[in-house]
Amino acid sequence: MPSTLPRGENLHVAVIMDGNGRWATRRGLPRPAGHRAGVAALRRIIAAAPALGIATLSVFAFSGDNWQRPAAEVDALMWLMRAYLRAATKELVEAGVRLCVIGRRDRMPGPLIDEIARGEAATAGGDRLHLRIALDYSSREAIACAAVRCATSLPPSLDLVGRLIADSLADDSTVGEVDLLIRTGGEKRLSDFLLWECAYAELWFSDVMWPDFDAEALRGAIADFHRRERRFGGLPPGALALGAAE
Ligand code: FPP
Repeated sequence: MPSTLPRGENLHVAVIMDGNGRWATRRGLPRPAGHRAGVAALRRIIAAAPALGIATLSVFAFSGDNWQRPAAEVDALMWLMRAYLRAATKELVEAGVRLCVIGRRDRMPGPLIDEIARGEAATAGGDRLHLRIALDYSSREAIACAAVRCATSLPPSLDLVGRLIADSLADDSTVGEVDLLIRTGGEKRLSDFLLWECAYAELWFSDVMWPDFDAEALRGAIADFHRRERRFGGLPPGALALGAAE
């Protein structure tokens, strides 16, 4: 397999970075150590993404339901995210990465909210990769909010409602639907991540724990994606011609 795949695909890849806790526990470490190793994995994936044709990378870092975890783990995650944003902004700018954080901001600690705003402003000119980090994010909640916004403008048709919801869910007009959803850590579920945007996503599940996920694993997922036949509810190419000949 070539070391890189052709560019120009403009793929939107979403990742559920699962398995940090188990990775740490298996090594006799506290769970936050797994999240720290998870940040290192994320940095590797961000660095590898543009050469693999990925234009948009959406990663699930903290769900609305993750608030139920023990306070010590939640605090560690909030601290880690702030530390990451502070430390990584320069490397994101240099790598041409534009950062956007999706999800609620009203429940996060003030210093983290400030760091997000700083990171988003500093990276606004990035044009190699659009990195979307989902924090305090719930897809069902996002869809419900979009529906409310849309209801106030009384859209006249079902089609338009769909378009308004899709526009409202994207942080800007360049974000398309998800092409490939990757979940590490051996579980096979969506966990309230980008439900609308994944309507026709190809799904790729890996038993690898997120801290062990690397550029080679990402390359494998993308190579597998390129072997899939995407039909979006239609027929495979050639099927109509065959039918016509019968
Ligand atoms: C799921 O693994 C992972 C999370 C809830 C947090 C993901 C966070 C990171 C990768 C690091 C922080 C990210 C940024 C953007 C700085 P889990 O804890 O549920 O693992 P388990 O299923 O093995 O318990």
